[in-house]
Amino acid sequence: MGIAQPSPTAADIQGLFDRIAPVYDSLNERLSFGLHRVWKRMAVRWCGAAPGHTALDVCCGSGDLAIMLARQVGESGTVYGVDFSAELLGVAEGRWAKISPGGRSPSLSSEASRQISPTAAIHWVQGDALALPMGDNSIDAATMGYGLRNLTNIPQGLAELRRVLKPGASAAILDFHRPQGALAEQFQRWYLDALVVPTAQGMGLTDEYAYIGPSVDRFPTGPEQVALAHQVGFERAVHYPIAAGLMGVLVVSRQ
Ligand SMILES: C[S@@+](CC[C@H](N)C(=O)[O-])C[C@H]1O[C@@H](n2cnc3c(N)ncnc32)[C@H](O)[C@@H]1O
Repeated sequence: MGIAQPSPTAADIQGLFDRIAPVYDSLNERLSFGLHRVWKRMAVRWCGAAPGHTALDVCCGSGDLAIMLARQVGESGTVYGVDFSAELLGVAEGRWAKISPGGRSPSLSSEASRQISPTAAIHWVQGDALALPMGDNSIDAATMGYGLRNLTNIPQGLAELRRVLKPGASAAILDFHRPQGALAEQFQRWYLDALVVPTAQGMGLTDEYAYIGPSVDRFPTGPEQVALAHQVGFERAVHYPIAAGLMGVLVVSRQ
């Protein structure tokens, strides 16, 4: 029997993401074979973001979901990307400065420029998902990608999301999921041990990526996430397993 690892503190997690920041995007792309973008698009669709909305991406990291939300809510909308890692926020800001309508790279061809439709302004905010720097009932739609599993207090993170959402608004929370069934479970174990950790090892980040397996083991299952969401007051909560149950999206709504 393995010895239980102590759960990391918020400072451990913040330090870990600051260290990973320079390679986070390229590792993500390689380890998910680019599929993370497909799953993130599903989350953006399922959170109900629409033109003119004020949208929020919690634990925004390098900004993928916030940028997708900005395209979805359009130039009449506003997006907030919140994260506590200053390094990852720096990566997000740099990416956004290159592709946003105001900061488009002059090297882009006119064809490429035409493909970039007007988007919302994104405000990158350093803040804590457990004490969001947003007012009550101020957000029309929210996303969180691979953030909930990393919070030191999952119910508090869900309660904060509920506090900032307007009545009738939804949030879509994408993360790893512990699949049901021996085969899928074995595949996930193989994926983490044989692919994720060695790839990270090759980039000098062994310890940083070794945390993923234990964090998935600790993470509540889909039905447990639904129960937690109801406990903090969400009137509607549905967990959708995706990617053969290896990932999941928890969609929560306020009445
Ligand atoms: C695995 S990354 C996901 C980044 C991005 N959402 C994505 O899908 O690519 C998890 C992010 O959660 C952030 N995070 C973890 N705990 C947090 C907290 N309490 N407050 C704010 N950000 C937090 C980390 O800094 C990191 O950027």
